[in-house]
Amino acid sequence: MTQASNQPGPLRHFLQLRDLNRDEIDYVLRRAALIKDKFKRYQPHMTLHDRTLAMVFEKASTRTRVSFEAGMYQLGGSVINLTTSDSQLGRSEPIEDTARVVSRMVDVIMIRTFEQTRIERFAAHSRVPVINGLTNEFHPCQILADILTYIEHRGDIAGKTVAWIGDANNMAYTWLQAAELLGFKLHVSTPKGYELEQERIGTAASVLSQFDDPRQACEGAHLVTTDVWTSMGYESENEARRKAFANWCVDADMMSRADPQALFMHCLPAHRGEEVTGEVIDGPQSVVWDEAENRMHAQKALMEFLLLGRLDQD
Ligand code: CP
Ligand code: NVA
Repeated sequence: MTQASNQPGPLRHFLQLRDLNRDEIDYVLRRAALIKDKFKRYQPHMTLHDRTLAMVFEKASTRTRVSFEAGMYQLGGSVINLTTSDSQLGRSEPIEDTARVVSRMVDVIMIRTFEQTRIERFAAHSRVPVINGLTNEFHPCQILADILTYIEHRGDIAGKTVAWIGDANNMAYTWLQAAELLGFKLHVSTPKGYELEQERIGTAASVLSQFDDPRQACEGAHLVTTDVWTSMGYESENEARRKAFANWCVDADMMSRADPQALFMHCLPAHRGEEVTGEVIDGPQSVVWDEAENRMHAQKALMEFLLLGRLDQD
């Protein structure tokens, strides 16, 4: 059993993408590629032997649950899964108390929850690294996987253009952080009334261009990406959003305006016929299955980095 006191350096959390600097993101992505290569060659990579990951889900998940759980077992560790309904969180135990208790027994904690302030409160009372497995505001593990996927298919993303089509949600704001950190341009097109909030754009304004017309946002893009029109927690807005987002469906015409080598990504789960056509998501430019798989490789590298720091290449 290893605890936070055995970690190298100060306690690090990953609550948003910019909790890592550019150099650290580059390191984690290189390490993810190495870990993936070993996985594909059936070579064991058990750097987190005897470590325990606790996962706390206050929202549903398929990819995040499976990728963290399989990834931690492959690293030689073990996993405990908690949800709101099967833990005392669902019976009003304060999040701070949950963090205090769980972090005395495990080595790293992944939490998927609602407001960013909730994961911040959790992290403030945790003795071990806390990883954001999605909040209303950010989804940084997904973007690590997406950048890894882009690099695998097309090389460095610096200097490229990413088009975000649809809701100004947790994915959009995390792409915005990625663009600023890694030096690429972000084109965003959202329906009126669903735009990015000016105060959350901040210094990322220099890498951001906003478009009323989603087709224009796709012009020359090297990556076109979207997400559901209604994120978890916003289901009461579903009907209004279906109407407002009707023209923000990524289709073959939008893809034809992008760079001829453009990729299509979607964090999944997807709704074919809403935010993307079946033709695009199941078409030759789509890399959504690689993107989903890369969640696991990227998160293995992330957990290793948060617990062990930088390692030699083996
Ligand atoms: N992309 C993603 O986070 O998927 P899940 O909601 O299935 O975890
Ligand atoms: N924006 C979506 C992503 C799901 C993985 C949501 O928050 O529901």
